[in-house]
Order: sequence, then C-alpha cells, then structure tokens
Amino acid sequence: MQVFNTITNLQSTLDDWRSKDQSIAFVPTMGGLHAGHLSLVTQASQAADKVVVSIFVNPAQFGEGEDFGDYPRTLEGDLSLLKELQVDCAFTPSIETIYPNGVHFGVEVGEIGQILCGKTRPHFFTGVVQVVGRLFDIIRPEVAVFGQKDYQQLHIIKRFSSGVKILSAPIVREKDGLAMSTRNQYLSANERKIAVQLRKTLLQLQKNELDLPAARKQLQQYFKLDYLVVLDANTLSKITNNTSKIAILCAVFLGSTRLIDNIIFNQG
Ligand code: PAF
Repeated sequence: MQVFNTITNLQSTLDDWRSKDQSIAFVPTMGGLHAGHLSLVTQASQAADKVVVSIFVNPAQFGEGEDFGDYPRTLEGDLSLLKELQVDCAFTPSIETIYPNGVHFGVEVGEIGQILCGKTRPHFFTGVVQVVGRLFDIIRPEVAVFGQKDYQQLHIIKRFSSGVKILSAPIVREKDGLAMSTRNQYLSANERKIAVQLRKTLLQLQKNELDLPAARKQLQQYFKLDYLVVLDANTLSKITNNTSKIAILCAVFLGSTRLIDNIIFNQG
C-alpha cells in the first residue's frame, strides 16, 4: 500500500492508474478505524479497480467545545488495518494541504444542514461538504462510499456531489447492537452498558411496541435526548402518502459523548 501526504505525489499515482483505464473508489475517513470503516473499504474494492482511503481529522466540521483535540488519532494502527485489506493507497494530508488558505466556511448547505444533527452542530455539514468536495477534487474518484450510520451526512453528500457515484454501506454493530463509532471509546464501562438502550428503543419504535412520545420518554431515562424523529427517508421531511421508505433517526448524549443511530426501512 502506498501512503501519500502530498497532493502531487498522490495525483501522479492516480494519473498512472487512469492512464491504464483503472477506475478509482474512494473512502474518506477521519481515522480511528473500526469494522464499520473496514466494511466501507470492502464495498469500495468491489466497486472499482483501485481503492484510495483518506485519513484526515477535518477541523472544519468541529464546533467550538467539540472533540477536535481529543478525536482518536491512531495513524499507525489505521494504516496496518488498511494494508491488511489490500487498500492501494492511503492519503494522510496535513491541515495546510487541505486548507492552504486557512479553514473557511465558503460552502452553503442550506436548510437541510440546519435540521437534526445540524441544529446541535451548526458547522458540521458545512465542514463535511467542504472537505468532501476538496477531497473529491483532489482524487477525482468514480465512486465514493459512506456509512449509513451518518444518514443525514449521506443524504446531504448525495445532494452535493455531482459526478461521483455515492454508495452507502449498512451500519456495522457490536454484538449487543450498539452502532460502531470511533467515539464509542469515550464511553466509560457503565456508559457502554447503558448505550445499548438506544438501539433497543429504536427497534421498539419500529415494531410499534412504543409510539414516538413513549420512545422519547424511554430514551430520556438513559440519555440526554437531542432528537428522535420518524421521517421520509428520501427527503428527510414529513411522511406523506408518497413516502416509500421511512427513517427513524436519533441522536443522544451519554455523559459528554454524542451517539447517533438510525433504522431505515420500507413503508408497509
Ligand atoms: O464520516 C466521517 O468520518 C466524516 O464526516 C468524513 C465523511 C470523513 C468527512 O470528514
């Protein structure tokens, strides 16, 4: 596996692949890799001839007081995991390489970036769209793979990335159902036990064992609830007679850790 931290060296390898008509699939990550990320890589390797994975903790998507400084940086371990999966190339740029003119928020995501996660994290989607756009411009992949766990992110990226085919990969879960996340390592042993209540409640809601107010009340027994909503999965707005797919979307705080999860399923 080749590892590049400069754009010039990366692009000369990418140009070489393109000259041989080899297609490129891209998986953007912030490192702290776990089995969820590895499933994205596996999907990418089935979608194109070559796989590029970026590892970049993007300052633009963290707000003040959030965990940019604490975010797990495990580069060596991440690179060996990617090597085992026979990833062709890892891109590990510096902040200056991605933002040569400084981190600025020139991207306008609109209302879709201000609801749900965007309400609590107003910079988040602007920062994500900005970095994904920049990485797409550098790598120019045919395909990119994102996890379904960040469902709103996936939805927004699909809207904003013309020219790159966006694939999604299902949520990978721990044995007890907790959605895998780099941030799960922030949880204390006790919080880790409590965290399973999130998925359990979403399943009860999906099976109509609880209605929405009761599900919210139940979550509030364990967590500080950010939001729990049931929406049209294709539009992220209210369910209508035309809704074919439903999204149960949730974010909670457990101590200082923010957890998100969702269930997407067909109507009827
Ligand atoms: O989902 C993530 O890990 C990040 O938001 C992404 C897409 C790598 C952009 O920094």
